[in-house]
Amino acid sequence: MTARRSPALSGRVRAPGDKSMSHRSLILGAMATGETRIEGLLEGDDILATARAVEAFGAVVERTGDGVWRVKGRGELRTPSGVIDCGNAGTGVRLLMGAAAGYPLTATFDGDGSLRKRPMKRVTGPLAQMGAGFGWLADEDRLPVEITGGALRAIDYEQTVASAQVKSAILLAGLNAGGVTAVTEREKSRDHTERMLRAFGAEVGVEDVGEGWRVMVKGGQPLTGTFVAVPGDPSSAAFPLAAGLIVPGSEVTVEGVMLNPLRTGLFETWLEMGADLTITNRRQSGGEEVGDVTARHSTLIGIVVPEARAASMIDEYPILAATAAFASGETVMRGVGEMRVKESDRIALMVAGLRACGVAVEEEPEGFIVSGGPVAGGATVHTAHDHRIAMSHLVLGLAADQPVRVDEPGMIATSFPGFVEMMRGLGAEIA
Ligand code: S3P
Repeated sequence: MTARRSPALSGRVRAPGDKSMSHRSLILGAMATGETRIEGLLEGDDILATARAVEAFGAVVERTGDGVWRVKGRGELRTPSGVIDCGNAGTGVRLLMGAAAGYPLTATFDGDGSLRKRPMKRVTGPLAQMGAGFGWLADEDRLPVEITGGALRAIDYEQTVASAQVKSAILLAGLNAGGVTAVTEREKSRDHTERMLRAFGAEVGVEDVGEGWRVMVKGGQPLTGTFVAVPGDPSSAAFPLAAGLIVPGSEVTVEGVMLNPLRTGLFETWLEMGADLTITNRRQSGGEEVGDVTARHSTLIGIVVPEARAASMIDEYPILAATAAFASGETVMRGVGEMRVKESDRIALMVAGLRACGVAVEEEPEGFIVSGGPVAGGATVHTAHDHRIAMSHLVLGLAADQPVRVDEPGMIATSFPGFVEMMRGLGAEIA
């Protein structure tokens, strides 16, 4: 798939449903008793894998319309008959392992080639401390793994990596553990699990600890099915907005974008870089603030991105790097070693992709520095099955001198199924 220099982009679009909240709505719906109705569910491949998984664990899952789903939970997960294939989804597998750990069941989790390379001990370690059993079927720390759940004990866990997936897995297990399970984070990570647990009727305690917090859940609390309205995903909205910022003459609005402050680090960063980015129509939806975000073509200036912001934009560094290629001066992104264990080694792939397109980039063990200037393009970029690497380079190509080709556009459907059509609708030349 190839993106080429495009005329001014314009239009209003809706962001697809938030991926984090979509996974959680299905998983909590399956753990709960009664019916959960979900609107705005992201129908990307990652989420469809989670829907199949919760069905295998005994929930009844039904799609009743565009993004409208119904989950009938049994108040527990049961031993599935086959392997739980989570596809490409790290969030899916890690949260499901946490959810499954508290029930008397056995299940084998697996995923695609990319997911099989990602570390799992960050989640299975604390779950094992709580009493769950794990049998590694290939390599230690990597899928496939067999989990044996059952009676768990609460733990008081201090996180070493800022990860909402780890925190969420422990909290979901904690719901079925004896005592109060606590997770302390030095830096706050996204809190969708905490918010959604409350919507399903559970109490979740929070205490501030320095810049971070301690999140607590008491075991034995039942969940009751509820209504979940999933707002637009800021991580997906980032792509059309980035295109609006870098293609001369553009004005692009994405409606209904979730503005949870633990997710909006990219917007703050772009504003500091001088972006003409405005938010209108702020409102509440599904327990989250949402708004319509407009990006107009901007003269961007490189900045040093504060390291403390990393958790609130960890998935957005690839598209930030693509926009930084058009900024004047250096954009310094440090403290983002976690990027190396996402769907791909995102530092290595962005460095390689941007360099192939003629952008000067310096690579560090836990970060990278992009020097902006004219972007030559004219390259084929290797994406290693990573949806965000593919979308970031296609957006880059819309303002580069020569076309940019990505080798594997199919993976975009994991998080943003209508991406290409949406971008074309705005006037982007992607073929
Ligand atoms: C997610 C958390 C982040 C993020 C991922 C979604 C979540 O991962 O990269 O895309 O929904 O909890 P980590 O928690 O591992 O940082």
